[in-house]
Amino acid sequence: MASTDLLTTPTTRRLEGKVALITGGSSGIGECSARIFVQHGAKVVIADIQDELGHTVVEALGKSNSIYVHCDVTNEDHVKDAVDKAISTYGKLDIMFNNAGVIDPGKPRILDNLKSDFERVFAVNVTGVFLGMKHAARVMVPARSGCILSTSSLCSGRAGAASHAYTASKHAILGLTKNLAVELGQFGIRVNCFSPYGVATPFGKTCLGVDNDEEFENFLNSFANLKGVTLRTEDVANAALYLAGEEAKYVSGQNLFIDGALGNVCSPFKMV
Ligand SMILES: NC(=O)c1ccc[n+]([C@@H]2O[C@H](COP(=O)([O-])OP(=O)(O)OC[C@H]3O[C@@H](n4cnc5c(N)ncnc54)[C@H](O)[C@@H]3O)[C@@H](O)[C@H]2O)c1
Repeated sequence: MASTDLLTTPTTRRLEGKVALITGGSSGIGECSARIFVQHGAKVVIADIQDELGHTVVEALGKSNSIYVHCDVTNEDHVKDAVDKAISTYGKLDIMFNNAGVIDPGKPRILDNLKSDFERVFAVNVTGVFLGMKHAARVMVPARSGCILSTSSLCSGRAGAASHAYTASKHAILGLTKNLAVELGQFGIRVNCFSPYGVATPFGKTCLGVDNDEEFENFLNSFANLKGVTLRTEDVANAALYLAGEEAKYVSGQNLFIDGALGNVCSPFKMV
């Protein structure tokens, strides 16, 4: 085995035989998680609205390991169909990963914020997660097992880092996560979310209005609490892998911060 293979071939395949559905799986954190889940033995359904990119991801993962479904998470029929596609293709759904998310144009003053922008953010970030949870529960409850994960944000625990709509939407994901973990515990289903600091993805770079990774990371690192490392999509995907796997079998109702303790720091960190 070449030395680089050690980096890409896990010695223990932690999701062997599992089936995962990842919304927002065409890009960024979702795409990276799909790659890592497949490396760990999972079959993956990529659900997104970026169809061309999604098909490219499936090509890269291998058609025996993954499929793409067009799915706007704000549309209940799309979410239902995506879950049903996982069942008809792979026979079950073990991991539902609600990851798709959007942000509104950065307008720090609430008086400048549009109701339509607010509603759009909530439609994707909150209703989309609710629908993913609902249709995952529809198939996981009869199976008496499953794991539901959602991507929240540092903004679920720290104010002033993003817009009002985005911050409120990411708090709402935590509320849904905790409530659903209580409901679904009786069926052996775990429900968690995680909350990353900034990562250089198309979404992240759009938020900052920069188009290269280095500029994004240098800016974010200047505010970071944990020095000498840079948060990357792989780090977030590895947290998802942990929460999805057997190592987290008794972890439910949690919000895992991947922020190098920035959320604990009392500083005038402010991005809005
Ligand atoms: N990148 C960061 O700095 C950062 C930090 C904290 C949290 N997050 C969260 O991570 C998640 C993933 O974002 P990312 O950074 O990987 O960005 P990204 O832009 O690389 O990926 C987001 C994906 O979501 C998809 N999407 C958007 N609206 C959708 C919809 N209605 N239905 C289905 N798919 C839709 C996009 O097409 C895209 O493929 C988001 O929920 C975001 O809020 C990102």
